[in-house]
Amino acid sequence: MAFAIYVFDAYGTLFDVHAAVRRHAAAMGPEAQRLSELWRAKQLEYSWVRSMSGTYRDFWRLTEDALDTALAAFPSADRSLRDSLLDAYRTLDCYPEVPQLLKDLKAQNAKIAILSNGSPKMLDQAVRAAGLQDLIDDVLSVDQIRIYKPDPQVYEIATTHYRVFPSAISFQSSNRWDVAGATKFGFRTVWINRSGAADEYPDMPPAAVLRDLGGLTVLG
Ligand code: LAC
Repeated sequence: MAFAIYVFDAYGTLFDVHAAVRRHAAAMGPEAQRLSELWRAKQLEYSWVRSMSGTYRDFWRLTEDALDTALAAFPSADRSLRDSLLDAYRTLDCYPEVPQLLKDLKAQNAKIAILSNGSPKMLDQAVRAAGLQDLIDDVLSVDQIRIYKPDPQVYEIATTHYRVFPSAISFQSSNRWDVAGATKFGFRTVWINRSGAADEYPDMPPAAVLRDLGGLTVLG
């Protein structure tokens, strides 16, 4: 059965979070990949800590804070690249299969939305930089409730927006912890396991696992 509404996580799912460091890899030196991974890990850790401690800062600010931590952890990295890395993060590449997939879903008259931790401004910049603005109907940000995923209130933004029950939405994320929260909320979930990671959260399983978004139209 094809769904009428497909909701996508943004960072790691549509947009390649490691593209920013990759653009400056030559100047970053041998620790580039590890720095990129720590940047991402700290960005997510800060989102959970700030949700649970009631000290919300928007996701762009957390992206800056996390980059500062990652740069401090790898002293061999050139700190003068900070602004260039942040500029690159504003305009991340989307994964190669994304534009065609969204066109195929649109051809089926599906509604297409992003539901992301990202602030509205950074999401708008990312969508435009990747040329996806005509393929995405709605960009829904946690910023309106100032709590991050996987709080159930975040997934509720989508059901409230579309006035549907959770089971009417197919939700795609490459973040296994985000899939867990979305499964618990009641979405049909698809884990985009790009890196071939081991499964986690066995009590909150995805309905399906894909290596990239390409197979989503076949799955329905
Ligand atoms: C997002 C983060 C989780 O886009 O990647 O919501």
